[in-house]
Amino acid sequence: MPIITAENVNFSYDKKRNVIKNLSLCVNRGEYLAVIGHNGSGKSTLARLFNALILPDSGKITVDGFSSDDKKSLFEIRKRVGVVFQNPDNQLVASIVEDDVAFGPENLGVNRAEIGERIDYALKAVGMENFRKSSPERLSGGQKQRIAIAGVLALKPEVIILDESTAMLDPKGRKEVLSVVKKLNEEEKTTVITVTHYMDEVVFADRVIVLNEGKIAMEGTPEEIFASSDELEKLGLETPLASRIAKKLKEKGVDIKGEIFTEKDLAEALCALKRKI
Ligand SMILES: Nc1ncnc2c1ncn2[C@@H]1O[C@H](COP(=O)(O)OP(=O)(O)OP(=O)(O)O)[C@@H](O)[C@H]1O
Ligand SMILES: [Mg+2]
Repeated sequence: MPIITAENVNFSYDKKRNVIKNLSLCVNRGEYLAVIGHNGSGKSTLARLFNALILPDSGKITVDGFSSDDKKSLFEIRKRVGVVFQNPDNQLVASIVEDDVAFGPENLGVNRAEIGERIDYALKAVGMENFRKSSPERLSGGQKQRIAIAGVLALKPEVIILDESTAMLDPKGRKEVLSVVKKLNEEEKTTVITVTHYMDEVVFADRVIVLNEGKIAMEGTPEEIFASSDELEKLGLETPLASRIAKKLKEKGVDIKGEIFTEKDLAEALCALKRKI
């Protein structure tokens, strides 16, 4: 059963140029979907459409049965789809972590006792329970972004969309955020949609869609998508670094076996070679 469906969706910001073009897509419940595409291909616009921040000019978005056609449904859609943006500094609103996490549920009218429970749950889910009384200003980029995720989790969304949410983080911060998101998807069965430029983050997804000029240009598992490296390149994208290194080594005659997508795959393939020597 899909949690989000988009049917023949068109959208333009200026009523002249469509940036989403007749796009149809189903996002399955519990899925980990990666959305990639070159700059300006429409990824963030799609994220905004999914959470009813903007509405289609024609076509329809449905979230958990609530249609974007119906004004009364917009609140229900926004409650179900939480978005984490790129810059953690723009998303934190309060001077104490727990107040920041409480902000969303307070606006939804959740009662005091339940807000307390939701803060506990959300901070624990992102591994920040010991920072409840801290000032967000004192946290690292990765920690701040985990608080932003906690703020979204406190709304108990069905779907969490990460729009380049690791782009401003250092490698450690990126790892922290990714592991929190993977855990939410695996253990809480939260549907995750990740919009990213980092091909090595795409590897974790169940399914990948590649956007090009507001349309779906490719769709498949990460393995299927990365196997079409020529097509990806034409769309202005690259395969993961480990895949490219493996390809270069193969071209130089190094006998690397199997498909290489992650650094771990590459390390294992190289170790297997070493054992043979
Ligand atoms: N608020 C806006 N007003 C007018 N045009 C916009 C607005 N936001 C985006 N656009 C245009 O819509 C198109 C799609 O933009 P969008 O931000 O969805 O792309 P993106 O794939 O997220 O790009 P990036 O990788 O740079 O984040 C682009 O041509 C962009 O210039
Ligand atoms: Mg974007």
